[in-house]
Amino acid sequence: MSFLRRKTASFLGLAALRNLVSDSMAIDMGSASTIIAVRGRGVIVDEPSVIAVNKISGEVIAVGNEARKMQGREARDVTVIAPLIDGVVADFERTRAMLDHFVKEARSGISHVSRRAIMSVLSGVTQVEQRALLTAAEEAHIGRVYMVEEGLAAAVGAGVPVDDATAAAVVDIGGNTTNVATIISGSIISSRAERLGSSDIDAAIMDFVRRHRGLTIGVSTAERLKLELSSAIEPRDTQQKVNVRGRDVQTGAPGAVDVTAAEVYQVTQPIVRRIAEEVRTTLTDLPPEVSGDIYDRGVILTGGGALLDGLGPYLQKELDLTIRVADAPRFAIVRGLSQMFDEPLLLRRVARTEPHLLLEPDAMVFEE
Ligand SMILES: Nc1ncnc2c1ncn2[C@@H]1O[C@H](COP(=O)(O)OP(=O)(O)OP(=O)(O)O)[C@@H](O)[C@H]1O
Ligand SMILES: [Mg+2]
Repeated sequence: MSFLRRKTASFLGLAALRNLVSDSMAIDMGSASTIIAVRGRGVIVDEPSVIAVNKISGEVIAVGNEARKMQGREARDVTVIAPLIDGVVADFERTRAMLDHFVKEARSGISHVSRRAIMSVLSGVTQVEQRALLTAAEEAHIGRVYMVEEGLAAAVGAGVPVDDATAAAVVDIGGNTTNVATIISGSIISSRAERLGSSDIDAAIMDFVRRHRGLTIGVSTAERLKLELSSAIEPRDTQQKVNVRGRDVQTGAPGAVDVTAAEVYQVTQPIVRRIAEEVRTTLTDLPPEVSGDIYDRGVILTGGGALLDGLGPYLQKELDLTIRVADAPRFAIVRGLSQMFDEPLLLRRVARTEPHLLLEPDAMVFEE
């Protein structure tokens, strides 16, 4: 701490200084998107979890939306990377750079540090992965980092009261993972994350179009087909079609084909069936009272995958349980994390922190 800064601090007064430090952030860093909400300001960042780097120098060229635009159209020396795979840190250096970028974006004006942040983590993450995330957050100048299990954050964000003594079940379907959790009184009873998510539908669409229609399409095109045509239940108009462009498998030349809703439905089916199976397995063999509560209350869906057309009715029929899609399901986790700032006792009880790894918040106030 320099003398000059010390002087500035006393001049401005501590209260004013605290305002320079943008306060509490809720961070849901998923394999598909990173969402950051700042307390009192709502969702500030909602961007794809991708980063474009120069292959030779390693220099970061673009992050988030900007990098996504380059995906599949990269210049020769550029590569676009999704550093989080299956919700865990697959590429530490790029995860760190990405988090740093998004956190800066979420900060208002002149502040360089944040007092505290709550991040969500998958239940299955190892100590090493947790430490990697904590280190990344520390390097992004966040004073104190709390880590909360995704399932609990999703439940709170979907409106389950933290002191609810009746059990609730939440299924979060993300890009790469499906997390099924049961919660009671703000504690997790059981939680299971599987490498299965909405992007598996994109991959299945790509595979189908290549093998049956002879056209190789990019990831973004496959996702667009999913968003426009995919459905978990028989589509109303099976002949509805979308024209997609790509590369002809035989000739390598540019080409285009029409893909119908019936075709997309056919490739979506095995994946939603696997999701149903996953939910069924996790909800089997729970304590009888918990099972009873869930039977009465039903299951809540969160995550971007929950937006798939007809998924609620499909699961309702398959599982014979009431299914409710949370409001704005992609934001359920970040909403839940934000709400935890108002529940300090719960936060202390459920969060995993390693304060010794991190600088104390007050020590950070004067740092740049
Ligand atoms: N309207 C929609 N219909 C179908 N799928 C959608 C819709 N909107 C978003 N998705 C899909 O949801 C997925 C992203 O969901 P989400 O943002 O919850 O993932 P994530 O949290 O980043 O991933 P994960 O939790 O696996 O790490 C993407 O595969 C996206 O295509
Ligand atoms: Mg997620």
